[in-house]
Amino acid sequence: MSDSKHNILVTEPIPEEVLSYLKGFGNVTVGEAGEYQHVDQLIADIPKFDALLCMLSNPVNEQVLKAGSKLKVVANFAVGYNNIDVEAAQKLSIKVANTPDVLTEACGDFAMGLLLATTRHFYAAEKYLRDGKFNGWEPMGFLGPELRGRTLGIVGMGRIGQAFARRAKAFGMEIIYHNRSSIEPELEKELEASYFDDLEAMVQKADVLSLNCPLTPQTHHLVDERLLNLMPKHAVLINISRGPVVDEAALAKALHNRTIYAAGLDVFEEEPKVHPELLSAPNCTMLPHIASATFETREAIGMLAAKAIVQVLQGESEQNIPNLVSVS
Ligand code: DGY
Repeated sequence: MSDSKHNILVTEPIPEEVLSYLKGFGNVTVGEAGEYQHVDQLIADIPKFDALLCMLSNPVNEQVLKAGSKLKVVANFAVGYNNIDVEAAQKLSIKVANTPDVLTEACGDFAMGLLLATTRHFYAAEKYLRDGKFNGWEPMGFLGPELRGRTLGIVGMGRIGQAFARRAKAFGMEIIYHNRSSIEPELEKELEASYFDDLEAMVQKADVLSLNCPLTPQTHHLVDERLLNLMPKHAVLINISRGPVVDEAALAKALHNRTIYAAGLDVFEEEPKVHPELLSAPNCTMLPHIASATFETREAIGMLAAKAIVQVLQGESEQNIPNLVSVS
């Protein structure tokens, strides 16, 4: 590694356009898939680098940050940044960036798709066909609930929650939501959305409960046995936020006992592990954390993260880097 340029670690292969852009500013080292999922590998390698472009699967904890003696910036290839100890970074004067906005529409599309796949049994039906069991049109095969006229309860009415609400409204769903505070009245009017200050009251009214909140100490296991028991028996849970927002053991129990109708999950408590009782629940549709996985969005995520790295390394003032995150 030459000393004249900044050294940048990108922990996984990402779109080539992003790597080319970064190579214009520094020596770029790209990790192999999964190489930096373990904290020990990060601790071992981080001292060589001025900047880290990391994935949501990389635990950038206090130890890692302290080991990064030259580290100036950590940019997450994701909007959610619960994998980074932002408070520790702040104490060490290391800037942290995430990637808001650029993945909103892809995630909104995906949430709608996951809801349809879950209620209309896409995967079970496809498996049935591939297994050679499709012997002709069946009037009673793979029936599921319609979405029109049903109520979607959104927990976390940020950008992605709103994108899902817009799509669900187009499908004829009623929108209710729970958030730290209500959204702007014009937006509420546009979405015809009703605010619930009380999560438990909202949950009892929602035919579909969608989790679109960040993972924080306050939202950890927000959906637990108690909340699952408050959901209507026909309700569907959709989670594209972060796995630990749901107590997976409680959810698996609710699915097996038919306390709720079904769940559609893109995220898991201990990724890449999936709770075995979820794997054995037929009413659970599961995907490997791919909500933002479009060509366009993954490139945009990478460019936004890479730009923050370059801006910090070039000494740009914080006000000009809109995607820096901090704790107050
Ligand atoms: C994010 O950016 O936080 C998403 O989870 C990626 O799919």
